[in-house]
Amino acid sequence: MLALEWKPGVPPVRNLLTEAFARLILATRLIDRSYRAIDRIRSALVLALASDAVLSRFNSLAYSRDGTYYPQSSEFRSYLFPWEEKVVAEYFPRVPARLIIGGAGGGREVLALARMGYDVVAFEPSAVLADMARRATKGSNVRVYRGGYEDLPRMFPWREQEPDGTGNVDSTFDAAILGWGSYSHLRTEDQRIQTLSWFARHVQGPILLSFYQFAKSRKISTDRRRRLKIWPSLRVGNRFSVYIGYTHDVSAAELRAVADRSGLTIVHLNEDSRDTNWPHAILYPQNITPTLDNDKRIILSSP
Ligand SMILES: C[S@@+](CC[C@H](N)C(=O)[O-])C[C@H]1O[C@@H](n2cnc3c(N)ncnc32)[C@H](O)[C@@H]1O
Repeated sequence: MLALEWKPGVPPVRNLLTEAFARLILATRLIDRSYRAIDRIRSALVLALASDAVLSRFNSLAYSRDGTYYPQSSEFRSYLFPWEEKVVAEYFPRVPARLIIGGAGGGREVLALARMGYDVVAFEPSAVLADMARRATKGSNVRVYRGGYEDLPRMFPWREQEPDGTGNVDSTFDAAILGWGSYSHLRTEDQRIQTLSWFARHVQGPILLSFYQFAKSRKISTDRRRRLKIWPSLRVGNRFSVYIGYTHDVSAAELRAVADRSGLTIVHLNEDSRDTNWPHAILYPQNITPTLDNDKRIILSSP
């Protein structure tokens, strides 16, 4: 029922106009609701119809249009988030040490860790952002390539037309970061296993992954199961956003299975999805046993 809030002592025409104007503004929420509906339909269509190559290219395009990853922007961050600082302090080797960072964007983590004295090899699939990261870290112990997890071990020069610099990243590293949420952009289980297996072979220490959303396990109806057979990309937890592209919600059970098949063990899993945190995990190659020293820092030993 519509309750009118008539102000006593105000001429009825003014009361009426005030009421009408306020309700007109409220009615424009319909535009937002319609936009959300269109967005949901667009996301479902993209997930059902777009090929892996299109989704991959879209991710790069979307991120390269986001000015917050440009080091010259006032919104650019060149610091570690508190949850990253905590796990780096707790699990990462002290400097000097060599790190590899994928999904590096415009170089946020790369800059922060290079300032702490780490040597860093970084890669990023968007040519625009790889170039930004390269410029921002010029003069420090950082090497930036263009490439995604699917390209490993082959990496490309930061500029598409640049003839030099293509190479294999085949050395070993003391620790690794799959940059903020970037693991969630991997689209298939095969890609996740191949990526983590590469890190398992090339990293002799902690590997930090973080996730856009950590999935709770959900029951799927028979009807939905039937539809998923036709369009597996519409699986619960696969999302498409016109701002960040394709993402996949990882669950604890899925991460354990993928880590196991990639030769990794999860030693720390944080599923806290409050907005002061991002769900994240620390994984180690299975041939390394981490133990704590007296300062509660990790010491690595091979069994
Ligand atoms: C949320 S941004 C984080 C960027 C940067 N690490 C930071 O924290 O500012 C996610 C990054 O993952 C990258 N990315 C998307 N798909 C990827 C893939 N398949 N392999 C590696 N990186 C990917 C995006 O281009 C983007 O730069």
